[in-house]
Amino acid sequence: MISEKMRQALNEQINKEMYSGYLYMAMSAHCNDQGLEGFAHWYMVQYHEEMFHAMKIYEYLLDQGSKPVLLAIEKPQESWDSPMDVLKATLEHEKVVTASIHSLMRQAEEENDYASRIFLQWYVTEQVEEEKNAADIITRMEISMGSNGPGLYMLDRELKSRPVTIPTSFVGPLGAED
Ligand code: FEO
Repeated sequence: MISEKMRQALNEQINKEMYSGYLYMAMSAHCNDQGLEGFAHWYMVQYHEEMFHAMKIYEYLLDQGSKPVLLAIEKPQESWDSPMDVLKATLEHEKVVTASIHSLMRQAEEENDYASRIFLQWYVTEQVEEEKNAADIITRMEISMGSNGPGLYMLDRELKSRPVTIPTSFVGPLGAED
């Protein structure tokens, strides 16, 4: 069992992960509208990853005998001024998510909730990767091309090849998807 406080905090994290997916879906739609199919693909893969992050918590709550309660998802921003603005907004958003995960981990430590600590460790590691992914694309954009022109076209083509590495089904015991 987990505490009521932890149950509520994990429910809120489900909402944050789903908002992340919603935000990246909006970014995908925006990039598609701008003719950047590769960026749009990259963000749609990111959308699926965020849904996976949300569902892992959902399954964890069920495994702990705690009912997940779904909260309203905030409307995301619709458009950005440039591809670089989209990327920078992504990195800033991931930093916010990282802070939220760290806060959850602190709570688990304060409560001596060993199961949640172990569970949350996956997210701590994942956030390092999430921030790195966004920061790496920003760096490549800055170094090799500026924010438009042929370099942007090449980067867009490259992003289109991002593979989908998460499962498309969330059915199964927790952790089997790792
Ligand atoms: Fe679920 Fe991008 O953090």
